[in-house]
Amino acid sequence: MHQPDFAGAIGVFDSGVGGLSVLRAIRAALPFENLVYVADSGHAPYGDQTEAYITQRTLSVGQWLATSGVKAITIACNTATVVAARRLRENIALPVVAIEPAIKPAVAHTRSGVVGVLATRPTVQSDSVARLCALHGSQVRIVLQACPGWVELVEQADLHSAQTEALVRQYVQPLVDQGADTLVLGCTHYPFLRDTIQRVAGEGVALIDPAEAVARELVRRLGPVHGVSAPQLGHTWFFTTGDAPQVQRTMAQLWGEGVTVEALTSV
Ligand code: DGL
Repeated sequence: MHQPDFAGAIGVFDSGVGGLSVLRAIRAALPFENLVYVADSGHAPYGDQTEAYITQRTLSVGQWLATSGVKAITIACNTATVVAARRLRENIALPVVAIEPAIKPAVAHTRSGVVGVLATRPTVQSDSVARLCALHGSQVRIVLQACPGWVELVEQADLHSAQTEALVRQYVQPLVDQGADTLVLGCTHYPFLRDTIQRVAGEGVALIDPAEAVARELVRRLGPVHGVSAPQLGHTWFFTTGDAPQVQRTMAQLWGEGVTVEALTSV
């Protein structure tokens, strides 16, 4: 594929469809911007990969976006952020806004003094999350919980089945049993399981998703807009390194409107 021209657009990427939970917050905050979304589904889940592999994928997708002319990149993947955001920032001369597990707001919110963090295995094992816990968690107990299998459910848009509820219960119930009243959705796929997580955890448990905070940070980094007086609504392009027809079927369900997903074979 020849390198497309997305001059002035905002690049957003994730290992798969999960980053759409961040993209929808960005779209709501910035209706007039053009957005380019890359789902690196051909190499997902990142949760099963090594740090070296996740870093190499993050750099590769980030370079492709930079070369195609975007003015900023949002890492809509906690796993890529905690493993590789620093390397991407060193390699790319563009603003990079990166989601990370919302441990600070969760600590501010808890009344029981127990916070659960739901995330991928590389995220819960990362130095970045250890630092966030040390920085914000001295007065509370933070329980880190890896959730293998959840990303695959979201990639299949299997959000409400009995099988999904059982796998959600397997990782959420132990946190509730330990007294957690606040759960961090520390992987961008998990907001799509929000209804099921809430049902299992109970109505009294708060679920914290930092997607809107990421969109606000992106707005802040882009600065004031000096645009035309009657701007047009922005366009969104969708790409995947995986099976485009299959990813398109899932995205059509999660995004809530018709999407066209193009195959990206050159990264
Ligand atoms: N959505 C990604 C995150 O926020 C990870 C999913 C994966 O394991 O590929 O961590």
